[in-house]
Amino acid sequence: MQILQYLKNFYQLKQLGQSEIDHLLALALHKNLNYLYKYPEKIIPISCQKKFVKLYQKRLNNWPLAYLQKNKEFYNLNFFVNKHTLVPRPDSEILVTQALNYLANKKNLNVLDIGTGSGCLIISVAKNNKNQNYLATDISKDALKVAKKNARTHKTKIKFLSSNLFTKIPRQKFALIIANLPYLTKEQMLEPSIKHEPKNSLVSGKDGLRHYEKFLQQVQNYLNDHFCLLLEMDPQQNKDLQTLAKKYLPNSKIEIIKDLNQQNRLIKISH
Ligand SMILES: C[S@@+](CC[C@H](N)C(=O)[O-])C[C@H]1O[C@@H](n2cnc3c(N)ncnc32)[C@H](O)[C@@H]1O
Repeated sequence: MQILQYLKNFYQLKQLGQSEIDHLLALALHKNLNYLYKYPEKIIPISCQKKFVKLYQKRLNNWPLAYLQKNKEFYNLNFFVNKHTLVPRPDSEILVTQALNYLANKKNLNVLDIGTGSGCLIISVAKNNKNQNYLATDISKDALKVAKKNARTHKTKIKFLSSNLFTKIPRQKFALIIANLPYLTKEQMLEPSIKHEPKNSLVSGKDGLRHYEKFLQQVQNYLNDHFCLLLEMDPQQNKDLQTLAKKYLPNSKIEIIKDLNQQNRLIKISH
């Protein structure tokens, strides 16, 4: 069957969006999207049709498109992703922008990313500011393999370390620490669209704050006199996270920063 007719047949089912269907067919054909639009009359080989149907069914079963493509664009860079890493979210780009604002015109600062996952945050920062010393950690060795691969692809100089929060991080002082640690509750994890993403990337105790509370308990010994922490959160956690920040870092300044959808997304704790 020809590409255009084949696509139309699947559009009519209205189970997935047209753009997603296009992406899946391009993937099955090992071509880019332009190929579909340039050669709508080309015949799709049976083997590619079979591959497409498999991908289509996985997507219907909520596999993220990024896992099927093994790729996700973030901050204008392409990141390899697999089932061991959270799919980078556009909402997290504000954290990169804030980190770059903080680092502008500064040199040789120690910068740490805890819970690096695919490495999307620290790599986007390091790619745009080469003047600092970067360290990234994760509890998951499988995620770290992905982050290292992405750091190589983007030719960024970052050290990677496997660590449960601060346990394996050598005693040194950081000027900037960024983190998008797990912050969902178990109930939020029931959302079907995230069921294939790693649980240990997403869930954090009953209220979603177990990781950040531990992080704030441990962080004091690793901070410069002047420091900045940028932590991604669920918009609902705004008040509770501010309370925790005041408890563990009482002399710091606290700001809440909104994402592109005007949701409270980051807590910035600085001194
Ligand atoms: C929400 S994901 C964020 C990944 C990536 N930074 C991003 O923004 O896409 C959280 C990450 O924290 C890691 N993580 C979970 N518990 C951790 C812990 N106790 N110490 C360090 N990393 C942890 C997970 O493996 C996961 O990669």
